[in-house]
Amino acid sequence: MSATSFQLISTLVRRETAMVYYDEAKDYLVEARLLPLAAAAGFGNDVDAYIKRVTVDPVERRRAVDALTINETSWYRDLSPYQAFTEHMLPRLLETRAASRHLRIWSAACSSGQEAYSIAMLLDQHLPAGWTAEILATDVSEAMVARVATGRYSQVEMNRGLPATSLVKYFTRVGSEWEVVPQLRQMVRARSLNLAEPFLGVGGFDVILLRNVLIYFEASMKYDILRRIHHHLDHDGYLLLGSTETTLDMPAHVADLWRTEPLGRVQAHRSTSSTPLASPIGA
Ligand SMILES: C[S@@+](CC[C@H](N)C(=O)[O-])C[C@H]1O[C@@H](n2cnc3c(N)ncnc32)[C@H](O)[C@@H]1O
Repeated sequence: MSATSFQLISTLVRRETAMVYYDEAKDYLVEARLLPLAAAAGFGNDVDAYIKRVTVDPVERRRAVDALTINETSWYRDLSPYQAFTEHMLPRLLETRAASRHLRIWSAACSSGQEAYSIAMLLDQHLPAGWTAEILATDVSEAMVARVATGRYSQVEMNRGLPATSLVKYFTRVGSEWEVVPQLRQMVRARSLNLAEPFLGVGGFDVILLRNVLIYFEASMKYDILRRIHHHLDHDGYLLLGSTETTLDMPAHVADLWRTEPLGRVQAHRSTSSTPLASPIGA
């Protein structure tokens, strides 16, 4: 792949997703991901010609951008956020939400859905009778959103962090894949959403998981997302970031919105506001 093609495609990925993950040192990675698409589109192994097509063809552009997102994920990834959810957040939310008996959780940047379905399994196990919950799972990649809606996983994916008891309880075998049972699928709603753009129509949440995605953005975009997501978390809700994602260097106007609270082995982000969320705004 030529340097010009690399520049073209990385600028395009950045424009569409805000991801600045790919630098020249990773051009082999970009090429490896685009080669199958180039072949399928009739360009053989001419990735340069394929990238030219991508710049003028919106359908192919969507495919290329999808192929270049980093979708690394697993069940109960890092474990401690999920322990904090069950042991600290859920007991408190069961007290504070006793009137509505309803919880709303957002898995923002959900990849293929393991994060959203891990939470769904915990809710199925720990939510008292009479309570309901909905999990919004969003990602910029339409291919990922489609996968969440389908709820099907390969054996290799199942082997990444899912306890055997959960496999038996929450999945049925469909050919060579495993499908999430309807009782969990009913809890999860998948839709595409670009974190770099206004969060239109998503509403307010008790818990937001924004994990392992901010690392791909420039600092200014990261802070802008942390500022805008604040409008969608209730005043006593919880925001969970990835274990390597810190907010230490936030500018004052964003830092003032958040405080951290240790919950077991994780630092949850919580709002500094004491006013319940009235109506979340779109940006
Ligand atoms: C490494 S995965 C993290 C998945 C999951 N949150 C976890 O921690 O396991 C990052 C996800 O962020 C998504 N992503 C990248 N840029 C995005 C954007 N601008 N808006 C929404 N999602 C984005 C990618 O498509 C990918 O699925």
